[in-house]
Amino acid sequence: MRVLIVGGSGLLGGELVRLCAAQGHTVAATRFSSPPGPGTPRTNGPAQDVRPGSDGPGPEPVTADGRPVTGGPSPAPGAAATGGPAPGERLGPDLRTRPSPTTVAGGPSPAPGAASGCGTCEWFRLDVRSRAAVPAVIGGFRPDVTINVAYRSGDWATTADGAANVAAAVAASGGRLVHVSSDAVFSGDAPSYDETCLPDPVNPYGAAKAAAETAVRALVPGAAIVRTSLIVGHGASAHEAFVRSLATGSATGVLFTDDVRCPVHVSDLAAALLEIAERGLPGVHHAAGDQALSRYELGLLIARRDGLDEKRLRPGLRAAGGVRGPLEVRLDCSATRRRLHTRLRPASEFLAPGHS
Ligand SMILES: NC(=O)c1ccc[n+]([C@@H]2O[C@H](COP(=O)([O-])OP(=O)(O)OC[C@H]3O[C@@H](n4cnc5c(N)ncnc54)[C@H](OP(=O)(O)O)[C@@H]3O)[C@@H](O)[C@H]2O)c1
Repeated sequence: MRVLIVGGSGLLGGELVRLCAAQGHTVAATRFSSPPGPGTPRTNGPAQDVRPGSDGPGPEPVTADGRPVTGGPSPAPGAAATGGPAPGERLGPDLRTRPSPTTVAGGPSPAPGAASGCGTCEWFRLDVRSRAAVPAVIGGFRPDVTINVAYRSGDWATTADGAANVAAAVAASGGRLVHVSSDAVFSGDAPSYDETCLPDPVNPYGAAKAAAETAVRALVPGAAIVRTSLIVGHGASAHEAFVRSLATGSATGVLFTDDVRCPVHVSDLAAALLEIAERGLPGVHHAAGDQALSRYELGLLIARRDGLDEKRLRPGLRAAGGVRGPLEVRLDCSATRRRLHTRLRPASEFLAPGHS
């Protein structure tokens, strides 16, 4: 199968690239501001991933009195400064003449696939906001299936318009589409949300993800829309990095006790997405872990797994800090679980000491 991962340089995208290559698929992936190669650690990524008030899926640390965290993780040197093409890498057409304003030229890039341990991935630099570049990449590679995980916190044009551009290009090329959405499309007012529930977002990130779902459904009626929850695993997620920085004292802040999600291991999620892609399962799916936990409870599990000092993790209330967004969102994944062979483990299982 020819698989294109849009957003292959991110946490989930990198895992998908590795899995597709390991399973012998012909895989291509896109990056935007990162160097090519999957598994770019988002932990050191853009500041908005860890900023208080962020409406993205990352943790939202604030000090006990709701002020911004100081001393939190900052972008790695060059993390967003390697926008140029790597040797042999293909460039979306209008990026040749109109570089993205958010990328900065410079910084050495490894050869495509070199940093990944997978020598078979072809990398494209792509800005999904470009209506011209997206069909050029998809029409050029002609994937059997495109898996779109690209998004940017706080950027409607990437998260919503970009998803529409990807869907339009897939509709034109004739392949299948798996689009990754989020539990943030829900307000959290209901006790839980199954696959039939309609979005009722309460913050800009949730609204952009809901708009993306509508565009995907309209443009590619047979697409799979896969809503997921907090992604962790292998130590590479923003939440794991934040817990590490709190437990080692390199950041200050609290972990919310009133912010509840169903964390999922990045490998389980990637496997579920690939199964949905391979079997061509259309419609809405809910792919999250089988256990609802607060960010504080999740932090304790991470600290225990990593042998960190859990006493340094301080609980706090998200509601007290006035951080916008849903508080408790429990994804009911029952229907998806019945359809899939892939098991989506609960956090207490995949974060048990000895697991990565
Ligand atoms: N992480 C979570 O806890 C969580 C929870 C629920 C849902 N989700 C959803 O899961 C998906 C993957 O999340 P993630 O945590 O893996 O995200 P991530 O690590 O932040 O990766 C985002 C990807 O999008 C790419 N991207 C950003 N702006 C772009 C643009 N203008 N054009 C093209 N690509 C662009 C990034 O490329 P560069 O890095 O190269 O710029 C990166 O590859 C997203 O759709 C997100 O909404 C995530």
